[in-house]
Amino acid sequence: MIKTGYGAWVREFEAERERRAALGDPDWGRGARLPAEIVRSIQKFQVGEDGDGSALCGKADRAGDPAYSEAVRLFIAEEQNHARMLKLLLEAGGAGTLGGHWSDAAFVRVRRLLGLRVELLVLMLAEVVALGYYRALRDGAADPLAREVAGRILADEERHVPFHCLRLREGLALLPRPARRAVTAGWRGLLAGAAALVAVDHGPALRTLGVGRGAFVAQALRSSAWMARAMSGGPVPAPAAGAQV
Ligand SMILES: [Fe+2]
Ligand SMILES: [Fe+2]
Repeated sequence: MIKTGYGAWVREFEAERERRAALGDPDWGRGARLPAEIVRSIQKFQVGEDGDGSALCGKADRAGDPAYSEAVRLFIAEEQNHARMLKLLLEAGGAGTLGGHWSDAAFVRVRRLLGLRVELLVLMLAEVVALGYYRALRDGAADPLAREVAGRILADEERHVPFHCLRLREGLALLPRPARRAVTAGWRGLLAGAAALVAVDHGPALRTLGVGRGAFVAQALRSSAWMARAMSGGPVPAPAAGAQV
């Protein structure tokens, strides 16, 4: 396995943790007015963000790069912070969280069976769908607290994607070029399916946010073009400065 500088990613995640601590939380006390379809939709995403990430940590540890393991732990802490903020947003809107959701339980069960590379490919489906969702929530929600939380989560997800792309590029580099192409084309096919499932499941919320189901799927596919290129050997945005590695 090719080892690259995950130290830069560790520093990026740590800098973000410090920035987050300095900024503090959104002002939950101002409350939130959330329509019922938005509440239901956020509740499902909240379950998806929540998890201890122990399976991913174990696989990252076995990959044998301590800096990568450290970066994965910091990444998981960000996802757990998303779950925490969504829970507090729901509470600010007078709503609770779900105990679990069938789609999330299935997702977690499938991911536990996978090796690191395939797990990251599956995780990347969730990251790309999340990008579209939080962008829709940030830009389309009437409630300012919901917009603020969505904006904060979106900024994190935008960093998660190149982080995973870098590891996947290394993981797939051992495959011959046609096999790599087949993997990334297959991944984009699965992404279309995952985005369509979410577009149907969250259709009423997306409509309230001003995003049609077809537009949601099309946007997810469009945004994945550079990721597929990055995974199969193309440039991956570096942390922070935006330079290419
Ligand atoms: Fe997240
Ligand atoms: Fe993420």
